[in-house]
Amino acid sequence: MIRGLSTSQATNDSNAFARKKLKCADSNITQEDLDSIWDVGIVKKNRVIQTLLAHKSIRQYTDEIPSEEAVKTIVRAGQQAPFAYQYYSVLLSRKREQHPYKAPLLFTICLDSHKFELIMTRRRWRLVMNDLALMLLGIQDAALMAENMVVAGRSLGLGSCFLGSALWRADKIAEKYDLPQRVFPLVQLVMGYPAEDPQPRPRYPLEFTLFEDKYPKLNENTISDAMKQMDEGYLTQDYYRRLKAKISLQANRKETFTYDDYSWTEHICRKLGQWDPKPDELLKQLEKRGFYLASARH
Ligand SMILES: Cc1cc2nc3c(=O)[nH]c(=O)nc-3n(C[C@H](O)[C@H](O)[C@H](O)COP(=O)(O)O)c2cc1C
Repeated sequence: MIRGLSTSQATNDSNAFARKKLKCADSNITQEDLDSIWDVGIVKKNRVIQTLLAHKSIRQYTDEIPSEEAVKTIVRAGQQAPFAYQYYSVLLSRKREQHPYKAPLLFTICLDSHKFELIMTRRRWRLVMNDLALMLLGIQDAALMAENMVVAGRSLGLGSCFLGSALWRADKIAEKYDLPQRVFPLVQLVMGYPAEDPQPRPRYPLEFTLFEDKYPKLNENTISDAMKQMDEGYLTQDYYRRLKAKISLQANRKETFTYDDYSWTEHICRKLGQWDPKPDELLKQLEKRGFYLASARH
């Protein structure tokens, strides 16, 4: 049984993936509507949708080195994402031995205010927009760019995996790449030819994601279905056991999970319920790079 669900909730619907009728809460869109899109063969014929739906993070890589043309094409495709201000730069490392998962390529996607401030100086302007707004918009620019790179890579046969720890190691990364002030490393992305081919990981049911016209009141069944789809999907792949990724409990909480029932919702609860209770460390990392979210720019 999936932990966090009652017995009846867990057994009610023994095949979450085969459910035919997921009526979206408070909306007119049903799974049947979506199935009918699939039935006319959009997915079968559309390579872009196939590539998107086949996404899976890759954590084992072959020795093959991606060509210079592939690297440049991937970053160029990333650049063509929509942008607010093109507020990013991408740093590349090819020092495979030093990379997580020994991936041939390591991209560091940075929020970059430095470049446009140089342009503003040339045009005799001074930046007055506050760093909070700049960051919220710039992060969107960078994220859209990075995901375009993931999809472009995949279309060329390359796998990838994001690494989220950059935020807390921003000072070390800045030193390594000689980043100027007003450049902040947001996330890293390893890439190379896959030496594994896992199944795509689950996502929430569409009814837990797409709300038409108004945000619905999420009832117990909807929440259970969403948890079940995620937890069963990761358990089926033995995902956390393979990665040895169980997060320890803090503050005298007693461990009752094994890898037989430890899955996605418990994993994310342990992150969001235990990590980083104070923002000081991140604010300090930002300030070292010249970004001031909680006060005016110095
Ligand atoms: C911002 C971000 C940070 C991530 N950090 C890590 C990480 O540090 N290590 C890792 O192995 N995967 C990391 N991932 C990958 C996620 O674990 C993965 O995307 C998620 O489990 C869904 O699986 P899928 O990408 O295979 O569909 C990260 C993904 C994102 C978007």
